[in-house]
Amino acid sequence: MSDPTTLPRTLSFVCKALGDDVDDRRAPCRQAVLATVGDGGAARMVILRAFTPWTVEVHSDLAAAKVAQLRAEPRATLLFWLPEAQMQIRLRARFTVLAGAEVADRWTAIPDGPRRAYGGTPPPGTPLLTPDDHTYTPNRDRFAVLSGIIDSIETLHLGDIHRRAIFRRDDGFTGGWIAP
Ligand SMILES: Cc1cc2nc3c(=O)[nH]c(=O)nc-3n(C[C@H](O)[C@H](O)[C@H](O)COP(=O)(O)O)c2cc1C
Repeated sequence: MSDPTTLPRTLSFVCKALGDDVDDRRAPCRQAVLATVGDGGAARMVILRAFTPWTVEVHSDLAAAKVAQLRAEPRATLLFWLPEAQMQIRLRARFTVLAGAEVADRWTAIPDGPRRAYGGTPPPGTPLLTPDDHTYTPNRDRFAVLSGIIDSIETLHLGDIHRRAIFRRDDGFTGGWIAP
């Protein structure tokens, strides 16, 4: 990584890491923690499916708790850790839940195996007597795309010194340094 000692270099590092990693199954930016409001605060691992400046996409079962939580409070955080670069990236975004015909193109692109993550009986979070009491029933109507508009990107780089920066939609993502 070129040293993120300037704000423009830091932001271009983020854009490259998030944009490139979407297509690389083993890249660290492919996985993130998605933290939503609800239940006193809820966090879980997700796969980052798409990134553009300044949007993100995550896929989910429509019946999952995170969907109801985002419908109630669209503001949420995606948190990444890139061990090699020693960089934490925190994205704050407002999410819209898309489903049905408007996500038909994404559903078509998902192979049969991974489709079983969307659907299933009974729905996610239902108490089971044993793990075998659940059946995978891939269901296009249970496929949701969580589409986020990024409001801010915060970075923390653990280098020779700790450099923390924040880039906000409000100021056109020009960015500024903050105390680590
Ligand atoms: C590495 C990893 C990646 C995951 N990716 C996703 C994902 O992209 N979408 C998703 O809905 N759940 C994903 N999960 C499962 C979630 O972490 C979570 O268990 C599930 O979605 C239910 O969460 P909820 O009840 O809070 O909605 C992933 C789990 C792991 C361990």
